[in-house]
Amino acid sequence: MSSQAFLSDLFSLDGRVAVVTGGSSGIGRAIAGALARAGASVVVVARRESELVATVDELAADGCRAAWVSADLGTRGGVAAAAEEAAGVWGEPDILVSSAGINLRPAMDELDEGVWDATMALNLVAPYLLGQRFGPDMAERGFGRIIHISSQQAHRAFVQSGAYGVSKGALESLARSQAEAWSPSGVTCNTLVPGFVMTPLNARLSADPERTAALAARTMVGRNGLAEDFAGAAVFLASRASAYVTGQSIFVDGGFSVH
Ligand SMILES: NC(=O)c1ccc[n+]([C@@H]2O[C@H](COP(=O)([O-])OP(=O)(O)OC[C@H]3O[C@@H](n4cnc5c(N)ncnc54)[C@H](OP(=O)(O)O)[C@@H]3O)[C@@H](O)[C@H]2O)c1
Repeated sequence: MSSQAFLSDLFSLDGRVAVVTGGSSGIGRAIAGALARAGASVVVVARRESELVATVDELAADGCRAAWVSADLGTRGGVAAAAEEAAGVWGEPDILVSSAGINLRPAMDELDEGVWDATMALNLVAPYLLGQRFGPDMAERGFGRIIHISSQQAHRAFVQSGAYGVSKGALESLARSQAEAWSPSGVTCNTLVPGFVMTPLNARLSADPERTAALAARTMVGRNGLAEDFAGAAVFLASRASAYVTGQSIFVDGGFSVH
C-alpha cells in the first residue's frame, strides 16, 4: 500500500457530508475548509450572508464542494429551519461541527437574564438540538462524527467567564452524553477545547499587544492559537481514524491548560 493510500484510508472524508455551524468565521471557517479539502461536502451555517458567501467562494475556487445556509441559531425555530435546509443540500450529514458561539463577558454582577439566555441558546441549546436532529440518523446509518467547540473556560474561570464558561462546561457534558448514547452505533462525539485563539470573537483582547504577549507566554508552544491550528484535529475527529476516540475533550491550546 502506498503512503497516499494509507493516509486516505485513515483520514479521507471523500463522500462524507458535513455541517459546520459558525463555519463562516474563525475556528469554524478553518475547520470547514479543512473538512472540505479532505474531501467532504460542507454546508456552513451562520447569520451574515457576506461572510458565508466569501467562505463558500474561497472553497469552491479550491475545487471543494461547499454551500451555505443563513440562519439565526440563537432561536429554536432558527435551528430547526437551518437543519432542514442544510440536510436538503447534499442529504443528511455524516459530520456535525458546532462552532457557532458567543462570549458576551459582562461582569458577574451585571450578568442579566438576557445575556444568560442568549449564551445558553447559541452555545448549548443549538448543539443539543442539532444533535437530536442528526445523531439518531447517524446511528441508524452506522457512522457519524459530532464535534463540539468548547473553551478552556469550561475548566477554569478566565476574563469574566460568566454564562459563557457555564455553557461550555455543559457542552462538554453534552458530548459525553451523546457519546454514551450513540458510540455503540459508530457515532463518536468529542469536543475540541481551544485556548486563546486570535479570531473576531476576541478582537478587543487580540488588539492589545501586551495582553496577547502575556497569554502567549502562558502556553508551552510560545504563541497564541490560530484558527488553522484546528484543521488537523478536526480532520482526525471527523475521519475513520478516530473511531475509538469518543466522549473526549481534546485541548488544542499550545499547552496553555497544563502550564
Ligand atoms: N477565539 C477563541 O479564543 C476561542 C477560545 C475558546 C473557544 N472558542 C470557541 O470557538 C468557537 C468559534 O469561535 P471563533 O473564535 O471562531 O468565533 P468567531 O470568529 O466570532 O465566529 C463565530 C461564528 O459563529 C457565528 N454565529 C454567531 N452567532 C450566531 C447565531 N446567532 N446564529 C448562527 N451563527 C452565529 C458567526 O457568524 P454570524 O455572526 O454571521 O452569525 C461566526 O461564523 C466558539 O464556540 C467559541 O466559543 C473560541
